Amino acid sequence: MEKTMDEKAQGTALALNGQEGNARKLYIESYGCQMNFSDSEIVASILAKEGFNTTQNLEDADLVLVNTCSIREKAEQTVRKRLEKYNAVKKINPNMKVGVLGCMAERLKSKFLEEEKIVDMVVGPDAYKDLPNLVKEIDEGRNAVNVILSKEETYGDIAPVRINSNGVTAFVSITRGCDNMCTFCVVPFTRGRERSRDPQSILDEIKDLVDRGFKEVTLLGQNVDSYLWYGGGLKKDFEKASEMQKATAVNFAKLLDMTATTYPKLRIRFSTSNPQDMTLDVIDAMAKHRNICKYIHLPIQSGSNRILKEMNRLHTREEYFELIDNIRERIPDCAISQDIITGFPTETEADHKDTLSLMEYVKYDFGFMFAYSERPGTLAERKMEDDIPDDIKKRRLTEIINLQQEHALYRTQQYVGKTMEVLIEGPSKRSDAHWMGRNTQNTVVVFPKENYQVGEFVNVSVSDCTAATLIGEAVNLSDNN
Ligand code: 5AD
Ligand code: SF4
Repeated sequence: MEKTMDEKAQGTALALNGQEGNARKLYIESYGCQMNFSDSEIVASILAKEGFNTTQNLEDADLVLVNTCSIREKAEQTVRKRLEKYNAVKKINPNMKVGVLGCMAERLKSKFLEEEKIVDMVVGPDAYKDLPNLVKEIDEGRNAVNVILSKEETYGDIAPVRINSNGVTAFVSITRGCDNMCTFCVVPFTRGRERSRDPQSILDEIKDLVDRGFKEVTLLGQNVDSYLWYGGGLKKDFEKASEMQKATAVNFAKLLDMTATTYPKLRIRFSTSNPQDMTLDVIDAMAKHRNICKYIHLPIQSGSNRILKEMNRLHTREEYFELIDNIRERIPDCAISQDIITGFPTETEADHKDTLSLMEYVKYDFGFMFAYSERPGTLAERKMEDDIPDDIKKRRLTEIINLQQEHALYRTQQYVGKTMEVLIEGPSKRSDAHWMGRNTQNTVVVFPKENYQVGEFVNVSVSDCTAATLIGEAVNLSDNN
């Protein structure tokens, strides 16, 4: 799914400016993908109306919420450890209530209440609008659960509060759920059916961000290429829509085109793309608009046709290459990143070599690589044995990571000696004297601050690099300011 798992952000507690008159304190922590972080902003917005201001201090909290991820077993273990910590704090502050949100809540449902005595409330990703009622329940001493998945909920009518924002870049969700049914993946079970959000509410949210000085938005979805709006309803029912609905429908390419045309100075990114759903008109829209960033996160998962089939990825290695060729032909300097799973059931050494050779062909700019983790309820768990020993999974993963590292360095080296536009996001983590920003390809660039400011577009001349970072010096402000 998403390239959006920022390891450094995992578990960050969210804080925002308090609303006056709000007396209760909410501590909310998020794990997993960017969609979860984005959902926590919706939750904070809903609870602000119920008298909660956020705090970053766990010990002060009246209500502790943890927005959870189920994608791999490790993600769930991290949350279990956090619950132990909350339990210890509850001993000092017995009035504190604990709620579990997100994918783990959806997967485990009321089992959570039995397994983890500390938990008072369990809320799935489509039930956040019910939080006011659920909080009342727990206030009165009862446990509360709502894990109903919806075919319509997009939270399009809720203005998320931007939490811990740099004021420059923001995420805007455009689709929820996923209908693809990859056999390894828990997401269709935890986030339900795929649905698209009304484009007008997307454009309204973006307008509000632009008015507040934001310079970049990332359109978010488990599968953005699948975006389709024809007045509501599931994608599978599109065939049954009226002629009028069909004629005025908005697909992802159209949404990109509308956004880029309306806000020509706004940088637009999107994540995640699925090879089987990405169409040439999306690539054409990217090529047409300078403000749509030249970067595509295009998970492949495996380079072996046999494994792709077992994973129910509905494309072949050859079709993937064709897509890569089309991207490179239309946008020669487009960055491409991957997700790869190693050690999927029955994966042979030959399958693994296919993955390595596919990587050689693409030479990805970035990558997110994982050892296969069997997830309860998925098709793979029901039909296949998790038969690749851990040491083999680990060795293959190391080989893949090492190769990715080589390719990343190869890619960053291509920028050395060139000048490129960078949007300043904030201070560099390593040095207070430097700014950190990204070029259109999403590569991190650091350079001395001089008199430049956060949120400015600056032309930077790159003189050096590592596999992950470009190092340079500002030349001047770009004409995009
Ligand atoms: N095991 C390991 N990795 C997984 N992913 C999804 N499900 C699993 C799993 N069961 C990875 C995929 C996906 C990314 C978000 O997480 O590579 O694209
Ligand atoms: Fe995001 Fe849920 Fe998938 Fe985790 S399991 S990456 S939280 S959609």
